Amino acid sequence: MSAPNVIRGMVNLDDAGVYKLTDDLALIQTVDFFTPIVDDPYTFGQIATANALSDVYAMGGKPLTAMNIVCFPTELLDISVLKDILRGGVDKMREAGVVLVGGHSIDDAELKYGLAVTGTVHPERLVTNAGAKAGDKLILTKPLGTGIINTAVKARAVDEGTIARLTQCMATLNDKASGLMMEVGVHACTDITGFGLLGHTVQLAQNSQVGINLQFTAIPFFPEAGELAKRGFCPAGLQRNREFYAPAVKINKELPDYRQDILFDPQTSGGLLICLSPGGAERLLSRLRQAGVEDAVIIGEAVSEPRGVVTVK
Ligand code: CO
Ligand code: CO
Ligand code: CO
Repeated sequence: MSAPNVIRGMVNLDDAGVYKLTDDLALIQTVDFFTPIVDDPYTFGQIATANALSDVYAMGGKPLTAMNIVCFPTELLDISVLKDILRGGVDKMREAGVVLVGGHSIDDAELKYGLAVTGTVHPERLVTNAGAKAGDKLILTKPLGTGIINTAVKARAVDEGTIARLTQCMATLNDKASGLMMEVGVHACTDITGFGLLGHTVQLAQNSQVGINLQFTAIPFFPEAGELAKRGFCPAGLQRNREFYAPAVKINKELPDYRQDILFDPQTSGGLLICLSPGGAERLLSRLRQAGVEDAVIIGEAVSEPRGVVTVK
């Protein structure tokens, strides 16, 4: 079903829907929730919130309000766990300038937490994954490997220092990157989450009708991720991403399997992948660095052919 005011809806396969209210105001609506990926409830609340807000930031919008979604096993866990999760969520919302306006909770065998988020954007300034142009540079703002490392964390195969850096990264909002890309000017953007870098990049290439060349040596990832992938710590979603997106991807054959794994690794609260003119990319990069988004780096470019294909060199 289509409606004239739906700017982005089910047909676009974006994570967020966009509904035009007036000529200069559109609503962005998105929902995300998942099972815990870290042991500490407060940190989990922060990460789930940063993750849920990310789709609004990817579209160049400003998140305004949020509603909690809670599934909680009251017979298995102490209620203090839930309180800590919600406190982590509210603190992250406060950092983002987002107001919690309600929510809904149910008793469930498995703990889950997330948010339904509402934001706004000027309809003509909306950023989607369909606007990349040949010649654009691509900037990625966070390192990859969170799915692989989280899998290893569950098997107690990761040291505390790595866990601290990983959770810090996942709990970081994409607000600064979003605000700066809107100031500099941007053609397309997506956030890197469950489909991994290559899945989301293929979607961007196909929706924009361009090809994308990525330079593997430029792609940022947690140094531990390669070693852990080599030892077999790969989440189930990684293999699914590979099977689904491999037909649209050409990877340099010299690149060992465990390095390719990182590119298909599903990310939690990953960074933004921002497409913009080469001059804009240089300006944005220096402003991101100034603003403390230090992992941001140019990882590739859009080309006219082959359309819809991502090539990793
Ligand atoms: Co989402
Ligand atoms: Co998204
Ligand atoms: Co209710």
